[in-house]
Amino acid sequence: MTASDTAAARHVLVAVAWPYANGLSHLGHIAGCYLPADIFARFHRISGNRVLMVSGTDAHGTPITVKADQEGVEPAEIVNRYNPRFHEQWERLGISFDLFTTTMTDNHREVTWELFRALHANGYIDTRTTEQFYDPEAQRFLPDRYVEGTCPNCGSPDARGDQCETCGKTLDPIDLIEPRSKFTGATPEPRETEHYFILLPRLQDDLLAWLEQREGWRGHVINWALGFVREGLIDRAITRDLAWGIPLPPELDISTAASEKRIYVWFEAVIGYLSASREWAQEQGDPDAWKDWWLDPAAESYYFVGKDNIPFHAVFWPSYLLGSATNGQPPLNLPTNVPANQYVTFKGAKASKSRGVGKSLLDYLDDYQPDELRYALATILPEYNDTDLSEDELVRRINGELVAAWGNLVNRVLAMTRKNFDGVVPEPGELDDGDHAILATVDRNLAAEAALIEQVELRAALKQALDATQEVNAYLNATEPWKTAKTDRDRTATTLWTAIQAISGCNLAFAPFTPFAAATVSGWLGHDEDLRGTGWARRDVSSGTVLGEPTPLFRKVELPEDDAEA
Ligand code: MF3
Ligand code: ZN
Repeated sequence: MTASDTAAARHVLVAVAWPYANGLSHLGHIAGCYLPADIFARFHRISGNRVLMVSGTDAHGTPITVKADQEGVEPAEIVNRYNPRFHEQWERLGISFDLFTTTMTDNHREVTWELFRALHANGYIDTRTTEQFYDPEAQRFLPDRYVEGTCPNCGSPDARGDQCETCGKTLDPIDLIEPRSKFTGATPEPRETEHYFILLPRLQDDLLAWLEQREGWRGHVINWALGFVREGLIDRAITRDLAWGIPLPPELDISTAASEKRIYVWFEAVIGYLSASREWAQEQGDPDAWKDWWLDPAAESYYFVGKDNIPFHAVFWPSYLLGSATNGQPPLNLPTNVPANQYVTFKGAKASKSRGVGKSLLDYLDDYQPDELRYALATILPEYNDTDLSEDELVRRINGELVAAWGNLVNRVLAMTRKNFDGVVPEPGELDDGDHAILATVDRNLAAEAALIEQVELRAALKQALDATQEVNAYLNATEPWKTAKTDRDRTATTLWTAIQAISGCNLAFAPFTPFAAATVSGWLGHDEDLRGTGWARRDVSSGTVLGEPTPLFRKVELPEDDAEA
């Protein structure tokens, strides 16, 4: 029986921001949410919890149509181009989604309509006549990114209608200063148009009460959300004059000949977490399986997003959930935590390849092993501050820490065991204080790491793994089995036995971060390569186990030729 069969298994939803289908991912995106989500998910799977990790491509909205316009193709063509690239990069980097879908599915439309209808029936959605920018030359409305201008918040000259990239504030295009049409460059004029709005002021009290009870959230996330809600929420338009996107439920459609309406991408994309959970359940042949994560009040949900996504996940999505409860039922589960990250910037932000600018994750995967990238990025996760990254630092982290401290340790100990004991784990003699101490250290670090991962302190968690490894190296330097091998076979047996047990613990400590190497080492130690459900505790490697023949776990990397610094 595995841990996941027991009643103690927790249900953990790992919800990851849906990438727009308009470009390839960069290391900043990966460090921002995909890698932390995967580390967290893997930790819980190893621990025996039931994880559901979902996301998909965000197929709608002006980010996609602007790109399609630029290339003169249909928006669906853009989505269909990038979707397979996302699947490829998750596979290669080991980002272990249970389902990575898209917002173009029939299922997602149906689930979106369900929520829309419930919010409408509950009186939280209604129509309003509003002013939107209209391009008189192009003769069309200009939703979101079709207007650019000066940010009313920070004064940046090229804010987009939906959001200012400089200050991060979400905007209404009509508030831009010196607006210009992205189609023609013309100065757009305000025109009346009818739209559906979500009436957030009616949900404000419930939302605030919920936010005020949150515990363990990152300061920058909860403070931002509380401040935003306390300032007073306003009605927000959740439809757009745009022909690409999810149409309105037929009985509620207000499209006109002059303007087709679509549901606003930011309203429907967050619903993707729910629709993807349901799609996954369908695929399992158990259509109700999603309920374990959404209806059971004991289930947990973690939303991994970048900081520009905080409003949508910490305020708007919870408000849709609160407002769509029907028949006196409690709402679907609201987020347990939204561990949003800050940004990774590339040092100097110069447009050179070595600065990482313009180089996609897939490019990096041609030059580095996935575990190497995962390790280096995990050491700089922007959990509390924007973080700088350069490719030299990637290389330094990989060679100086991952290869030197961990990869070499495994190879050293397995090679010595081969040489002296034919690759069979020896029978230890009586353990001395030093032997006991190193195993206690590894176990203590494993426990500390688990507590840190639970709080989504992944950088600090990884530090526990690296520290444990360095302690094991220090233990070997103190016991010098390569010397005692010539003089004291029993002592050597005890040292190597102890080191192998310690390596088993360190391998677990690294497993959520470097899963490919963890599977390999696990196999070398005579354990199953699949660590799911094996539990978060160091596993014994029994005497008599025939160890695998080690090959270098990682290889030292060099700055790719054309990238080497002058
Ligand atoms: N596509 C958005 C972005 O890249 C994120 C959407 S997250 C979702 O910023 F939950 F809304 F889907
Ligand atoms: Zn701004």
